[in-house]
Amino acid sequence: MDFPAELKRYAARVEQGIDQLLPPATTRPERLHTAMRYSLQAGGKRLRPVLVLATYHLFAGMKSEGGNSKPEIMDPLPAAVAIECLHTYSLIHDDLPCMDNDDLRRGRPTAHRQFDEATALLAGDALLTHAFVLLAESYATRPLLAHALIRELADAAGSRRLIGGQMEDLLAEKKDTATVAELEFIHLNKTAAMIEAALVMGGLAGGAGEGTLATLRRAGRHLGLAFQIIDDVLDATADSATLGKTAGKDAKAGKTTFVKLHGLETSRQLALQQSDAARAALMGLPGDPAFLLALIASMAARPS
Ligand code: IPE
Ligand code: IPE
Ligand code: MG
Ligand code: MG
Ligand code: MG
Repeated sequence: MDFPAELKRYAARVEQGIDQLLPPATTRPERLHTAMRYSLQAGGKRLRPVLVLATYHLFAGMKSEGGNSKPEIMDPLPAAVAIECLHTYSLIHDDLPCMDNDDLRRGRPTAHRQFDEATALLAGDALLTHAFVLLAESYATRPLLAHALIRELADAAGSRRLIGGQMEDLLAEKKDTATVAELEFIHLNKTAAMIEAALVMGGLAGGAGEGTLATLRRAGRHLGLAFQIIDDVLDATADSATLGKTAGKDAKAGKTTFVKLHGLETSRQLALQQSDAARAALMGLPGDPAFLLALIASMAARPS
């Protein structure tokens, strides 16, 4: 398998899907739709949508136990675009002055810097909502699948997970008594929830069964933890130009991060352990996981 070429192919499919499945920038009100596309089409690693597509391809085309082709497999691209819309909304809001107050995202001025705060807030709201419209419309002919995808994404994005993690991230700012357990809650929810959802949504679209979905969820949890630990390490060690976002902001804001509680070296080791655990979970799955394993390894060593 040629990993870089495969990754490029998946990412190109995601870019094309985003362009096709988002309202045109000329849709009224133009300022809002332009802002939605500005943030979404700024680039980004596209980890979550690529995970949806690659996980789907583990199962697609496989025979079910009875020897029949699975009838329930569906095009995973709208699900991939939906999760990227949701992720991008979370970044726009994360950057707002009332949250992390960031000026740079994906190598460009943040949405509220490029437009204004109200436009950024509304573009985020609109991307969040659009994710669910996409799922409901694109999988309308498979209502059970549509329901499962919507449920998965809504749970991951909701008050107990992504938003709950973001709330505790803010509550833990400048708190010198934050514990390892609080830190784990923050990372598991603000970040790992969406990475779990990406793997599970790919599995759902590919017709994976309950046991397999549980394995995908476990792999996503480990990958998500590894991913956010590395995000914390990069914030402390990389430069803004490489990151495409402001470096060194966590320490300045007094964030409760892995680097703050465990130090750089231990954080790097913990990230590798989580990354290995994610890879181990995927080993037992049917299909050829080579691409996913390589993707997880590349995320552990990423520069941004
Ligand atoms: C940034 O996510 C926010 C975190 C959860 C760490 P990514 O690092 O995936 O950002 P993009 O999508 O590549 O810009
Ligand atoms: C953000 O965590 C997680 C979400 C956006 C949900 P961070 O605040 O660490 O992300 P960056 O570093 O700004 O991308
Ligand atoms: Mg934040
Ligand atoms: Mg931030
Ligand atoms: Mg960060």
